[in-house]
Amino acid sequence: MLTAAAARDRFAATRGLTELLAAPLSPEDQTVQSMPDVSPTKWHRAHVTWFFETFVLDRFADGYEAYDEAYRMLFNSYYEGVGPKFSRARRGLLSRPGANEVGKYREFVDAAMDDLLAGTTDDDTDLLTLVELGVHHEQQHQELLLMDIKHVLSIDPQGAVYRPDAVDRSVTSPLTWTDCDPGGPVVVGHDGVGFHFDNESPRHTVFLEPFRIADRLVTAGEWAAFIADGGYERHELWLSDGWHIVGEQGWTAPLYWEADGDSWIVHTLGGPREIVDGEPVCHVSHFEADAYARWAGARLPTEFEWEYAATRHGRAADAGRPFDVERLQPRGAAGSGSLEQLYGECWQWTSSAYLPYPRFRTAPGAVGEYNGKFMSGQMVLRGSGAYTPAGHARPTYRNFFPARNRWMVSGVRLAADIADA
Ligand SMILES: [Fe+2]
Repeated sequence: MLTAAAARDRFAATRGLTELLAAPLSPEDQTVQSMPDVSPTKWHRAHVTWFFETFVLDRFADGYEAYDEAYRMLFNSYYEGVGPKFSRARRGLLSRPGANEVGKYREFVDAAMDDLLAGTTDDDTDLLTLVELGVHHEQQHQELLLMDIKHVLSIDPQGAVYRPDAVDRSVTSPLTWTDCDPGGPVVVGHDGVGFHFDNESPRHTVFLEPFRIADRLVTAGEWAAFIADGGYERHELWLSDGWHIVGEQGWTAPLYWEADGDSWIVHTLGGPREIVDGEPVCHVSHFEADAYARWAGARLPTEFEWEYAATRHGRAADAGRPFDVERLQPRGAAGSGSLEQLYGECWQWTSSAYLPYPRFRTAPGAVGEYNGKFMSGQMVLRGSGAYTPAGHARPTYRNFFPARNRWMVSGVRLAADIADA
């Protein structure tokens, strides 16, 4: 748990980063919702503020009066236990409050939080627990903010740029594998030391058959070869639900790819440009990742294979890499011959459904709605991505999305059974 001093620092740093990420965006940029999954930037800025107001200030700040009672409904995301909420799919239709007014709301709540935290001691464990949760919640929305604004700006036929970004020209070396042999019973889940979300526990034992896992992510060049080999036209490569969506949505390539003669243009936060063969492919759905793996004669790892390999063969320090707002594009592998790109490039799809661990229980009250109620119809992704803030990645972290979603920075790491390899 955070100390009171650390809580003050983390709160200030996290709130500041959100505003830094929003800074390049005009009030008009911050208002658009380009599809139901996307939320406007100003909504993210307000909702994370609402979280501190609802779960911290209302409970712990004596005599706290809300900045605007209407915001309690407008910026509630999905907490049924808190009260009514505004339709998620219609967030982009709200012109009021505007982005500048949301800024004032943030300043009001920040001042109230500063007052509260100034008098907080290390013994205020209930308060510190919720501040820490609020910080990690805001970090999740920082990544969502970047995912969402990327989608918003991708609609612009003029090729809107969020922030100029260096293109990584590294050449990725041939794929190598790390053997995880002999398998057997292994312990997975968070050990309870340091922050983790409830869905990462309880720690428990699973049984793994011997397997191998790819040392790097699938590249854009390899994905182009998959497309050229009819990857999106061969039903035998696809799960039935995925094949249905390929037809329904007309998928022929990852999200943000556009054919340009024999090459591919990709929309990035730095604007549109040609793909680079060695960079990891991203913005693919679980269905596409699964089809690619089948085409490549491999499969996706289970979430426990990924965690075991990352814990045993990865460098834990990589999970703590600094977040670089100047470098928001996933980079190619260095070709070290060992596990690379576990963190900070692309989230990696697993073949595991998002389910509760044995003995999992949600916390009482509305905050218990944070994770547990979404354990249906979604798949787990592991690692972290180029938009993931520093201090937000760890080997046991369970990200989750429906199998058809692909506006996340989602990529592919292959696995294989040793017996087949
Ligand atoms: Fe949220």
